[in-house]
Amino acid sequence: MRTEVLSADEAALARAAQIIRSGGLVAFPTETVYGLGADALNENAVKKIFLAKERPPDDPLIVHIAHPHELIIVARHIPQPAWDLTKRFWPGPLTLVLPKAERVLKVVTGGLETVAVRMPAHPVARRLIETSRCPIAAPSANRFGRPSSTRAEHVVEDLAGRIDLILDGGPTPIGVESTVLDMTQEPPMVLRPGGVTLEELRDVLGEVRLLDSSTREAARRSPGTRYRHYAPRARLLLVERGRAEAVAWSWMAQGCRVGVLLQKSEGRSQRPELIVLSMPTDAKSYARKLFAALRELDAQGVDVIVVEAIAERRLGRTIMDRLRRAAKSGGPEGT
Ligand code: TXA
Ligand code: MG
Repeated sequence: MRTEVLSADEAALARAAQIIRSGGLVAFPTETVYGLGADALNENAVKKIFLAKERPPDDPLIVHIAHPHELIIVARHIPQPAWDLTKRFWPGPLTLVLPKAERVLKVVTGGLETVAVRMPAHPVARRLIETSRCPIAAPSANRFGRPSSTRAEHVVEDLAGRIDLILDGGPTPIGVESTVLDMTQEPPMVLRPGGVTLEELRDVLGEVRLLDSSTREAARRSPGTRYRHYAPRARLLLVERGRAEAVAWSWMAQGCRVGVLLQKSEGRSQRPELIVLSMPTDAKSYARKLFAALRELDAQGVDVIVVEAIAERRLGRTIMDRLRRAAKSGGPEGT
């Protein structure tokens, strides 16, 4: 299959909508990461997403809508706190897990009785849903297990030849995925930290629990935690602050090429077997750069990537979640 890559103007959006309506696959920018979209109400189209990504069928997809009132198309019951959240955070990086409406396909939910829904803020994503006139099921547009795509080039790298079209809308502004919040339990539970922080959710809801992704409960409640995610090809080592250089040297001594992600790394010596990428000190900018940095170090052919831990508050919690999962060795590979 030939994959078209088009700059996301009106003509390209019209073409993309036509592809979605005829059951094809389109990658498009959202404010978090690029998504790989198909008509959420077309079973064959949704199946193609799993094939293109090589994603296991028990890992459910997020349904994307263009207006809050479309929530009633996909969810059977919407409690008042869920509406309160939509008022505060939609459009934006918050995905709500709710009881699914009858018409939502089992292929989308991985067989679950719940559905994950979000209304993206990116104008290209919104226009695409509107002009396609259907909800769009979309996981992140990367090969299963790889870091999510934050630029059109990343989508080309992972999915060219497997999908119909890539809408290029430039780098995505947030850089990490949406927060997945399970509204079917009391108190609500964050299944995946993301662009909306736990602190912001507690402002609106009061008590909110955070799923510990290393537990058995996690595998049951959040199918995404069963697999290894966000992983570069190189082995990723997450180390305490101030330890990166010592760890990098010990791997170099064994003949490895090493990449390092370090906050404020300007002025450090560079050697051919050591590539240091400077990461911003504020978490928002760090998040925007994270997945591109991992892919860049892979492209440079490093064997090991050493990353220093960052403070776990607000977006820092999301970043540490992604780094921990990328560092997890063994176990099944995953989204
Ligand atoms: O920012 C994002 O959320 C991006 C953009 C494209 O919208 N999408 C994304 O999708 O990250 P994906 O498929 O890579 O991750 C969706 C996560 C998975 O961990 C999946 O297990 C979880 O959401 N999920 C989906 N439906 C669920 C459900 N009904 N119950 C629990 N978890 C669910
Ligand atoms: Mg993903």
